[in-house]
Amino acid sequence: METYQKIFEFAARYPSADNNQPFEINLISSGRFQIEHLPQRALHSLNIESYVSDIVLGCLKSYLEASAFRYGQRAHFAHFYPCSNNKVVSEFSLSSGMDMERGLSELISGLEQRYTERRPFQLKRTPPIGFEDRMKLETSLFEGNLTWKFRAEGFSTLLPSLEAAERAFWSSDNLFYELLHWIRASDREAQATQDGLPISTIGIPVHSQVFLKILKRAPKIYSMIKSLGLIAEQVRALKSAITSASMLGVAYVPPTVPFESRMAVGESFTRIWLWLSAQGWSLQPISFATQVPTLSKICDLPSDLRRFQSILNRAIADFDALFDPPKGWLPLWAFRAGPIDDLRPLPRTPRRPLLKTAG
Ligand SMILES: Cc1cc2nc3c(=O)[nH]c(=O)nc-3n(C[C@H](O)[C@H](O)[C@H](O)COP(=O)(O)O)c2cc1C
Repeated sequence: METYQKIFEFAARYPSADNNQPFEINLISSGRFQIEHLPQRALHSLNIESYVSDIVLGCLKSYLEASAFRYGQRAHFAHFYPCSNNKVVSEFSLSSGMDMERGLSELISGLEQRYTERRPFQLKRTPPIGFEDRMKLETSLFEGNLTWKFRAEGFSTLLPSLEAAERAFWSSDNLFYELLHWIRASDREAQATQDGLPISTIGIPVHSQVFLKILKRAPKIYSMIKSLGLIAEQVRALKSAITSASMLGVAYVPPTVPFESRMAVGESFTRIWLWLSAQGWSLQPISFATQVPTLSKICDLPSDLRRFQSILNRAIADFDALFDPPKGWLPLWAFRAGPIDDLRPLPRTPRRPLLKTAG
């Protein structure tokens, strides 16, 4: 049992949107397990039709595979089911033996040393050696379900439409309150609730921590603060995050956004993330992209979100011009990445145990 515990301890570090960790593992019998999806942990505006949970399921799968490999085990999975209509989304077993085929060994040092880094970066460097091969490998592993595109220059063409999208996003009070609900106001609170996105791990400075704390206590002062230039600050941070990146990557999926593609994005994204971490690079997710296929289905949010949809379409067109995806395919994930100049260890983000304990 001790080996299993170690595997689940590593795997519990899987990245999840807002650190909501929506999965638990049940022991069925010796060496056999179930993955359970807990939708109440993943209730937020980005998770329409559980698309985001499906992406996160892919992240968990990669972590389980890499962690099993780390301890000389191999994870065998049964079918995976979409998170939207199943509680148990997969079963798997662990057995001795390693899977060398899928480049897992190269992910282990990312898993061990720094895990998924989201530090700000200032230095500009060319992508690490082997990056193109890694992207090709990830695309070929999931052929037909996704294609990864990346660019190391030309970002300035994206700035006007990204700025417009960012302004529209923050001008929706409802969405803002929902985000606030999910952002933890302090580390002490984070420890107590084990819920929501910890401020300390947000990749770009949303705005100062003090601001967030005040806002969380008195959200109605948002409109006053907005008029004082909060959105301009946010836009400035977005622009500098894009222009300071050494590269941008986008995962495109077929127009119907099948479940297999949603999972494949999470899997491949996590593998790229771990691989880049092992090279001393930081990767910051751009989760706007996860909303692209589903945003038009939000009906209980204010009408300015409909305006947001057309602005988003413009941003997609600009991304398409830069990244040249297959015709009609949609972005489902994007990241910016750059080298880390300060490798001092960061405090780790709290995680719940992954394996459900009896009672
Ligand atoms: C689907 C998904 C969306 C995410 N979106 C963002 C994001 O927009 N910004 C960000 O900084 N981190 C994002 N993350 C990273 C999570 O916030 C992070 O994994 C979580 O807070 C745990 O923190 P850690 O990776 O530092 O341990 C995302 C992760 C996933 C899987």
